[in-house]
Amino acid sequence: MFKYNSSINTNSEAFIKNQQLNQSLADEYFQKLQHIQQGGGNKALQKHMAKGKLPVRQRIDYLLDKDSYFLELSALAANGLYDDAFPAAGIITGIGMVHGRRVMVIANDATVKGGTYISETIKKHLRAQEIAQQNNLPCIYMVDSGGVFLPQQAEVFPDRDDFGRIFFNQSRMSAQGIAQIAIVMGSCTAGGAYVPAMSDETIIVKEQGTIFLAGPPLVKAATGEEVSAEELGGGAVHTQISGVADHLADNDEHALHICRNIIETLPQQNDVQENNFQAPKYATKELLGLIPESGKPFPNVHEIIARLVDDSAFHEFKSEYGTTLVTAFAQIEGKKVGILANNGILFSESALKGTHFIQLCNERNIPMLFLQNITGFMVGKNYEHKGIAKDGAKMVNALANSKVPYFTILMGGSYGAGNYAMAGRAYDPRFLFMWPNARISVMGAKQAAQVLTTIKRDQATALNKEVNEQDLAQIEASIIKKYEAEGSPYYSTSRLWDDGIIIPESSRQIAGLVLNIISKEQKDDTKYGIFRM
Ligand code: COA
Repeated sequence: MFKYNSSINTNSEAFIKNQQLNQSLADEYFQKLQHIQQGGGNKALQKHMAKGKLPVRQRIDYLLDKDSYFLELSALAANGLYDDAFPAAGIITGIGMVHGRRVMVIANDATVKGGTYISETIKKHLRAQEIAQQNNLPCIYMVDSGGVFLPQQAEVFPDRDDFGRIFFNQSRMSAQGIAQIAIVMGSCTAGGAYVPAMSDETIIVKEQGTIFLAGPPLVKAATGEEVSAEELGGGAVHTQISGVADHLADNDEHALHICRNIIETLPQQNDVQENNFQAPKYATKELLGLIPESGKPFPNVHEIIARLVDDSAFHEFKSEYGTTLVTAFAQIEGKKVGILANNGILFSESALKGTHFIQLCNERNIPMLFLQNITGFMVGKNYEHKGIAKDGAKMVNALANSKVPYFTILMGGSYGAGNYAMAGRAYDPRFLFMWPNARISVMGAKQAAQVLTTIKRDQATALNKEVNEQDLAQIEASIIKKYEAEGSPYYSTSRLWDDGIIIPESSRQIAGLVLNIISKEQKDDTKYGIFRM
């Protein structure tokens, strides 16, 4: 592989200005993270701890191996929604190591409205299960939840991907041989009772955990029976009488220790962490000096790739053809990867090259990383006549039928059909992360405003009416404002359109981790549909 020679002057005024700007975006991100890490606030936390329970993040720390990295997912879910009453959507999900095995942790934060589920909580829980299912990761559920957030029942109960889907997934995963372990550390009520009941092994904390389909007040209302929570479905009941749980723990620490023991008995995974690799010649931290202010031109994307891959070395495919898409084979933390990175608008040639490269990665069983910064495909008569739609369709077809896993980082703009061809959310990347400077929407704010005002103008002309310029200016301003707000990565991550925001300088480490998670399975034969020629 050729080592890249950077032409960036890291002492230039532009580099330093970008560095400051991107550092301030990273600081803003860390502040938001710090805030949500306080969960439901001090009062709720004191009440929680007074019961002898550990805070949710301490539970996770205790569970994981001491040197384990925790890849937290969608930390800022529900951020900015519901008056910020649901930090992290009341649930922490992420991937870490237990006895050297990678596991998915799904843990309720009972300090956030009793650990109840709003629609973002469910989306986050289901997404974590999906990632576990796709990547064959055992799931550990730390249950401490009042179930459905009752005022939102219409949004969380009846539909396919609502609360009930959690248990459907558990059954399917268990059948696939993916271990499902529950630790009941607090309330686990109504439908939520199926989490431990559907797990392969369940631990319950003495005089803390309860499992029942209906709590004491509902039992009294339904049948007149008076019973305490402990008598109805406490730890002793379920480990000694009903058999709904398998292990009785004295406290949180003991429960987590039992869970670690269970994981220790599972078969070893065969993903081997590579230790023998070169750091990039150009530090990943330098990315901060490369990323421009939103809307300004990006640097040559080779400069970005050079700061992500081992030894800043890569083997470029078709470097002279379709140059607005850079395709290259490289290694990240010792793992092979095929990179597709935008370097301008997608033309027919770039789409054809992308299609060819996706096929190569599939044939060679090399996972792919999509680095998105795309305003879309080229528009205009000349390009339509040359059939750009069918060339873009080839890339989408190759991607959608790929058997090798792939993941995506939104490093700049993500607009229009470019989002699709470059493995946007609808294309099932195993993971999708955004940088704090990224933007996502169907088109840019100004373009959308222009399209809408042009339509209004055409309508008026067709009806022989006079155009009200003031109305048009108002429409334009409101569309720009709306698109700018909705294009923000915080808007996206709050609604779980991605798996979280990551800062550019952690991208190499996270990409290395993701490659370890996704690349351990065997590839099936790849089969494509019809390519329109
Ligand atoms: N729906 C909506 N809000 C709920 C809720 C639910 N299912 N369960 C709890 N909450 C809210 C409470 O109103 C309270 O809100 P506030 O902070 O704005 O006052 C907050 O969550 C904490 O509840 P609280 O009862 O004070 O906490 P706790 O630690 O003493 O008890 C539970 C937590 C979950 C054990 C208890 O609230 C409970 O039993 N909830 C009902 C569970 C249930 O029957 N669920 C059925 C859903 S299908």
